[in-house]
Amino acid sequence: MKLVRTIKDLNLAVTEARSKGNKIGFVPTMGALHKGHLSLVEQAAKKCTFVVVSIFVNPTQFNDRNDLKRYPRDLNRDLELLRSVPCKLVFAPEVKEMYPNPDTRKFNFGPLEEVMEGTHRPGHFNGVAQIVSKLFDFVKPDCAFFGQKDFQQLVIIKELVHQMNTNIEIIPCPIIRENDGLAMSSRNQLLSKEQRKSAALISKVLFESRNKAASFSVNELKKWVIDEINKSPLLDVEYFDIVDDIRLEPVISWKPENGVVGCIAVQCGAIRLIDNITYNH
Ligand code: PAJ
Repeated sequence: MKLVRTIKDLNLAVTEARSKGNKIGFVPTMGALHKGHLSLVEQAAKKCTFVVVSIFVNPTQFNDRNDLKRYPRDLNRDLELLRSVPCKLVFAPEVKEMYPNPDTRKFNFGPLEEVMEGTHRPGHFNGVAQIVSKLFDFVKPDCAFFGQKDFQQLVIIKELVHQMNTNIEIIPCPIIRENDGLAMSSRNQLLSKEQRKSAALISKVLFESRNKAASFSVNELKKWVIDEINKSPLLDVEYFDIVDDIRLEPVISWKPENGVVGCIAVQCGAIRLIDNITYNH
């Protein structure tokens, strides 16, 4: 496994790999890696012969300065974890390398960014698009792997690829969870012991909601999920939206042509947690 810190060295390494006939798989991350990230690398290695992982805490996607400041960073630990999976190249640039000048590009994802994370984290997806479009340009992967944990991000990245006119194949990967069901996240390590314990309620209620969906209307189910989670004094639901899994439009009744996904954001002290669940109707 090789580590590069500059775009020039990244280009050299990827060009060499491609000239040898490798299929390039790409897993963008912000580091503080956990088994969720590693599962993306494993998936990538199943489809591609040369897996590139980027580690970059992208400042332009943080709409909350404190969130950016306290975001966990430990490159040596991340490299150690990546040595345990089939990763061939790690790209870990400095901010100046990715943003020599301020990025003033404005993306437009229409209704896809006007719901859920888009409304609660203004500018977030524009920042994600800025960094991912740069990374795609530099790595030029055949396939890129994204977790369903960030469901709206995944949908927006598919739209980004469409807008960029590239044929990078976007591969969705399932959510990896802790033993008690909590979706793995780099932010989980910032939770106190008590908060961490109560955070397990989020996925517990989401999974229970699958059984309730047979007898509840969409609105009843939404209310039930929010009320159940808010029963914990340490959790505060920011939103729980039940949407179709392609256009992210609110589902009013259980008869959509597309799949249905319930997406949630919960404030746990200063930490914001997101998760989602699919409903099969
Ligand atoms: P980050 O939060 O580090 O996540 C990197 C990738 O790992 C994303 O595709 C995310 O969906 C996936 N992931 C995170 N937790 C997961 C879990 N528990 N199970 C499965 N996959 C999981 O998402 C970002 O970084 C950034 O926005 C990025 C795309 C790198 C742009 O900066």
